[in-house]
Amino acid sequence: MSVLVVGSVNADLTVRATRIPGPGETVLGGDTRTSPGGKGANGAVAAALAGAQVSMIGAVGQDAFQDVALSGLRRAGVDLSGLLTLDAPTGLALITVSDAGENAITVASGANARLTPQHLSADLGGFTHLLLQQELPPKITLEAAKRASDAGLTVLLNAAPTRDTAPELLRLTGHLLVNEHELAALAGEGEVEDRARALLERGPGAVTVTLGGKGSLTVTAREMHRLPAHPVNAVDTTGAGDTFCGVLTARLAHGDTLEAALRWAGIAAALACTHPGAQDAMPTWEEVERASGH
Ligand code: RIB
Repeated sequence: MSVLVVGSVNADLTVRATRIPGPGETVLGGDTRTSPGGKGANGAVAAALAGAQVSMIGAVGQDAFQDVALSGLRRAGVDLSGLLTLDAPTGLALITVSDAGENAITVASGANARLTPQHLSADLGGFTHLLLQQELPPKITLEAAKRASDAGLTVLLNAAPTRDTAPELLRLTGHLLVNEHELAALAGEGEVEDRARALLERGPGAVTVTLGGKGSLTVTAREMHRLPAHPVNAVDTTGAGDTFCGVLTARLAHGDTLEAALRWAGIAAALACTHPGAQDAMPTWEEVERASGH
């Protein structure tokens, strides 16, 4: 059972500061930390750590940030035969993390933004699940979903970051994952469950809303799961949502029930908040099992 991720690959430049600056404001922070990131690569690494065989389609540039951007994928054993090196800078994410563990991220997409549907390999044979996010140009994301759906794969869409999500993409999505900001962008204001159910009407077979310290809510036509957050002391939430999506995809590909897969994803995402960085903070599967009490 293997997972394909079509998504972004970045190097993250992170600085810690007492708080995130407002518009026009300067705050003094600590030293810069350079680490592998990108919502696509983060999901791929999380899925691989959770035991899936993972292949990644994405792009980097031929520059000094390429190595750091790819380091986590290589370490986790993700198949990079679909990875392209393009004539553009490697994607960079400029991240400020506050003492409260919250973050603000600006992404300079670079090579990620140059990807087109022509860069997709035609053959999706052998994969059971496709994990998508919204950090690549919408055309390649939609084309990947179409091909995957035609080939019988289950498509999981992490609708992050917030941007226009084509109605067709929602119809092709088997499992939609959003946080509270993305839920508001897609479904307006109101009760979380009502809005998640409203999104179900637009195509996905399942909708999960991740609620940070309040856990997650998942609805399908027949099931509803409200799971509390695994308790941790969060120092940096960067990549926690990506960890949730990657682990959920891996465990569904492994054959877990929806509820079991959601539980594993929630524990892994919480543990990913206990260390700095995105991929660097992701737990091993042994750590996830230990935290679950198994
Ligand atoms: O979701 C966290 C990720 O968002 C970071 O790793 C950064 O690269 C941006 O893509």
